[in-house]
Amino acid sequence: MARIHIQDAESDFDCAADDTVLRAALRAGIGFPYECNVGSCGSCRFQVIEGEVEDLWPEAPSLSPRDLKKNRHLACQSRAVADCVIKMRPDPSAVLPHLPTRFAVTLEGLRPLTHDLVEVSLRGTEPVQFVPGQYALLALPGVTGLRAFSMSNIANDDGLWTFIIKRLPGGAGSAWLFEQAKVGSQLHIDGPYGHAGYRAAIDRPVVCIAGGGGIGPMLSIVRGRAAAATGNDAVSLYYGGRAERDMIEPAIIAELGGQDGGCRYEAVASEPTSGSWIGATGFVHEHALAQLAASGALADREYYMAGPPPMIDAALRALVIDGGVPVGQVHYDRFY
Ligand SMILES: Cc1cc2nc3c(=O)[nH]c(=O)nc-3n(C[C@H](O)[C@H](O)[C@H](O)COP(=O)(O)OP(=O)(O)OC[C@H]3O[C@@H](n4cnc5c(N)ncnc54)[C@H](O)[C@@H]3O)c2cc1C
Ligand code: FES
Repeated sequence: MARIHIQDAESDFDCAADDTVLRAALRAGIGFPYECNVGSCGSCRFQVIEGEVEDLWPEAPSLSPRDLKKNRHLACQSRAVADCVIKMRPDPSAVLPHLPTRFAVTLEGLRPLTHDLVEVSLRGTEPVQFVPGQYALLALPGVTGLRAFSMSNIANDDGLWTFIIKRLPGGAGSAWLFEQAKVGSQLHIDGPYGHAGYRAAIDRPVVCIAGGGGIGPMLSIVRGRAAAATGNDAVSLYYGGRAERDMIEPAIIAELGGQDGGCRYEAVASEPTSGSWIGATGFVHEHALAQLAASGALADREYYMAGPPPMIDAALRALVIDGGVPVGQVHYDRFY
């Protein structure tokens, strides 16, 4: 166990030998800025002033040789090997409403939804607490590093965690989940994390935009909104995939929670392969925003989005820069 002192912030926390600087800080209720938790975004970068940390993934995409030269590290990919003094700026809005913990779960169900999307159900022994739209980190047997997946269900007393997971061709975690996982497999969860959760206190109509596996947290938000029983408006849920085989049947969406929130669901195919596709075509965010702009309702909505980084970045530009939507009304997770 190492003690970490944050310079200029009058704040200290303990970092266990098998924990990361970021997650130890968040477990201690400190608002350490971060986004992805998996070494890809760079928003958890900090500087070591005294002491020593070990980089768990020196090749992480957002860690440069210049960072290492300046003794800067990624908090989500480093652990303290001695007491440290570090430099970073805590952000009170990054303090998590439910402090993350680590625990064992048993794989209880694997349900294919499309050719490369599966619903994974895991069961722990403790009640489950998180804000709809948040994510957790899964430790998968034999896979180096943790994998981030967003919950598709909501908080419950039954210990149930569900995720909708898209297969990444060539991915180590995907290979385990799609080829080796079986009912009864033992995994570990670390969570919950993330800032893109449902804002139940805000009574604005909600628009959810999902690309691929992004459908999971959007369904969690639909369910969370229904459970919170705030607002009278149905949620508009837009789901984007490439072709017909990527589409999730409306009946399955309804069963997975879509019907709980009186959800209006629309699937958009960017590259349908046959003339038989009768739904909308194009990029899902462009379709959703064109529809909302045409009804004059763009700025009067709360937006939740999850999916590939290029989709999120394009939607953010369209909403905030072109559409004049206040940035505080847009909440998103980029799926690195
Ligand atoms: C916040 C967030 C939420 C997400 N939610 C979902 C979801 O609900 N559904 C879904 O389908 N996808 C989701 N994703 C994307 C998902 O995490 C990736 O598709 C998944 O990690 C791919 O894993 P893989 O092992 O198949 O691929 P790989 O290419 O083997 O691994 C990629 C992931 O592993 C990390 N990684 C790779 N090597 C190492 C290493 N040596 N040490 C540490 N980390 C390493 C990478 O940073 C990356 O996250 C989410 C991503 C983020 C960031
Ligand atoms: S939170 Fe550490 S790199 Fe994204």
